Parts: sequence; C-alpha cells; structure tokens
Amino acid sequence: MTQKRIMAAIGVMIPIVVTTLAAAPHPITAGNVLIVYLSRTGNTEAVARMIQKETGGRLVALELKNPYPKNYQAIVAQVARENETGYLPSLKTSIDDISAYDTVFLGAPTWGMQLPPPMKSFLATYNLSGKTVIPFNTNGGYGVGSSFDDIKERCKGCKVLEGFSVQGGRERDGILFVMKGDKEVEVRSQVHAWLQRVL
Ligand SMILES: Cc1cc2nc3c(=O)[nH]c(=O)nc-3n(C[C@H](O)[C@H](O)[C@H](O)COP(=O)(O)O)c2cc1C
Repeated sequence: MTQKRIMAAIGVMIPIVVTTLAAAPHPITAGNVLIVYLSRTGNTEAVARMIQKETGGRLVALELKNPYPKNYQAIVAQVARENETGYLPSLKTSIDDISAYDTVFLGAPTWGMQLPPPMKSFLATYNLSGKTVIPFNTNGGYGVGSSFDDIKERCKGCKVLEGFSVQGGRERDGILFVMKGDKEVEVRSQVHAWLQRVL
C-alpha cells in the first residue's frame, strides 16, 4: 500500500472507532467489572462464568460463615424462616476494594420466589450507590419472582439495568446442574445477546 492509501484508510477508520466508542452507553473495561454470585448447585455460577468470559470482570462467590444445610428440605425451611423474619446471614466473603468497581453484576437463584438472604446480606453490607448494577438469575421454572425488584429496593442510588433470567435446575425433583451440552450453548448465546443489548 502506498503512503497515500494508508493515510486514507486511517482517515476512514478513526471516525468509525470514535463513533463506536461514543455509542457504547456503558463503556466497560475488565478492571472495573465485578461479578458477585450465589450458587448452590452450579447453575448461577455457570452463568456468572459466561459473563466473566464476555466482560473479563472479577468473579466473587458469596459464601456464608455458617453454610446452609446440604439437605434440600432443610435449606428450604431455613430460607423460608429467614425470609419471613428478615434475618441476614453473616458472610464469609469479604471484598475490600469495592470502590474500584463501577459495574457490578449480581447473580442469584430464586429462593422462595425472592432474592436469597445471602444476597440481601451482601446489599446490606456494601454500598453500591453510584454504581451500575446488572442482575442475573437462574430458577427452577417459576421465574425470577421478586428478586430483581428486591435488588432495586435494596440498592439505593444504584443504576439497575435490565436483568437476565433463565431456567436452571429443579433440586426439588432431583435435577441439579443443567448448564451443559445444548443447554449451555443456548444460554451462552442468550447471555451474549443480553450483554450486547444492555452494555
Ligand atoms: C432453598 C431453595 C429455594 C428455591 N426456591 C425456588 C423458587 O421459589 N422458585 C423457583 O423457580 N426455583 C426455586 N429453587 C430452585 C433454584 O432457583 C434453581 O434450582 C436454580 O437454578 C439453582 O441455582 P444454583 O444451581 O446456582 O444454586 C429453589 C432452590 C432452593 C435450594
């Protein structure tokens, strides 16, 4: 290519790059994205990892000081009690540099048609005001319930964007991890389309 042609090509490319950057409503870089998730049987974690792959953000799993019982009926009963009384379980997970992030993905399964208590604990512990918050969810087929509204309510001063929800396992019926094979491929492409739309 002659020097003249190279200059002409650069002249065409610069406006395209500038327009593309200006059009992105939420410019993100790997360094400012945090992905916090709760997952018992791996489905929400799988979605969190898909988001991580797309954004390059930092993944953090929420863990409790006193873990929930392994038995399904026991955890359902305990979560129902906690939801009823507003009990917030203590977190083992701690994030010391939350101010470094301005985009925070929050992922959790639907538990009792609500946001699970550990995610409520997270929102009570960390001040996310001024940040962009993007919820995601897996559920046993009954949908997100009030989870996304619970996030909006407990995250004052946050800009909460459109969330992503998909059917995951049905532990009640012995169906645990489902994010594999065709399902994984399908969810990965749904996650990609959602991120293209919201970011
Ligand atoms: C304690 C508990 C309560 C649940 N409550 C609901 C519910 O109300 N509605 C629903 O659709 N699924 C419910 N589920 C099913 C989970 O939302 C579903 O299996 C989800 O994909 C699990 O995500 P995980 O694999 O990341 O733990 C419940 C599961 C547990 C353990």
